Amino acid sequence: MKKSEGGQGSPLIELQGVNKEFASPGGKVKVLHNINVTIAPGEFLAVVGKSGSGKSTFLNMLTGIDRPSSGVVLVGDTPVHLLPEGRLAAWRGRAIGVVFQFFQLLPTLTVAENVMLPMDFAGLYRGKRRERALALLAQVGIREQADKLPSSLSGGQQQRAAIARALANDPPLVVADEPTGNLDGRTAGEVIALFSNLANSGKTVVMVTHEREATAFSDRAIVLADGSIESESMGARSVKKYGAQEAAHA
Ligand SMILES: Nc1ncnc2c1ncn2[C@@H]1O[C@H](COP(=O)(O)OP(=O)(O)OP(=O)(O)O)[C@@H](O)[C@H]1O
Ligand SMILES: [Mg+2]
Repeated sequence: MKKSEGGQGSPLIELQGVNKEFASPGGKVKVLHNINVTIAPGEFLAVVGKSGSGKSTFLNMLTGIDRPSSGVVLVGDTPVHLLPEGRLAAWRGRAIGVVFQFFQLLPTLTVAENVMLPMDFAGLYRGKRRERALALLAQVGIREQADKLPSSLSGGQQQRAAIARALANDPPLVVADEPTGNLDGRTAGEVIALFSNLANSGKTVVMVTHEREATAFSDRAIVLADGSIESESMGARSVKKYGAQEAAHA
């Protein structure tokens, strides 16, 4: 069985000495400086930092949406920094679910069709795509919206649909770039709870957030400043897990 097909075995993720610079009219701009991070399987990692600190660029290194100028990016046994352009999209489609701030649902497809699209691209779940899409929509609480167009959904419902789409191929890693940035406080809390459930079910979750509460739901938060990891702190989720282990051993 293909590793990415069953969602079993979340990957260990490693960034080693990752640097990223962009060419700009004024010369090269260095955006990530010697980033070294290991993310454990099943970990919920929050990435915070000011606007322009390099958070999205950091995520793009994980997803292969962009390449490091130097350094190593390993997602499980895949050296993402070495994947040829032609193989990146296919790899990403099976290995990673990506969630964006502005949902990025295709407006002319129904919600269910949006969720089925990654399955179509990857050639997975043939014959049971709709059934699977409906189950995923039920999982995120919007089964009854399945046959509507995205424009008729609220922001929170659209983000739920985007999360269902990210789960289409049961990827072991889910990456989200400010998924609550466009939602009101209560809806944001509900969406974060969904990501938390994903981590509970064994998926690795990496989420960029502006929110101060990042440590309230994550295992660990890293703070980026000017493209470097400025600090790192343990989140409440990790404290809870650790506490539970302690109790179990007592
Ligand atoms: N394609 C690009 N070309 C040139 N510079 C870029 C490019 N992408 C990002 N940058 C620069 O890299 C820096 C980091 O950008 P990035 O988008 O990663 O920040 P961010 O932390 O995600 O910010 P925000 O919170 O506003 O989304 C910024 O100074 C940005 O202008
Ligand atoms: Mg960003």
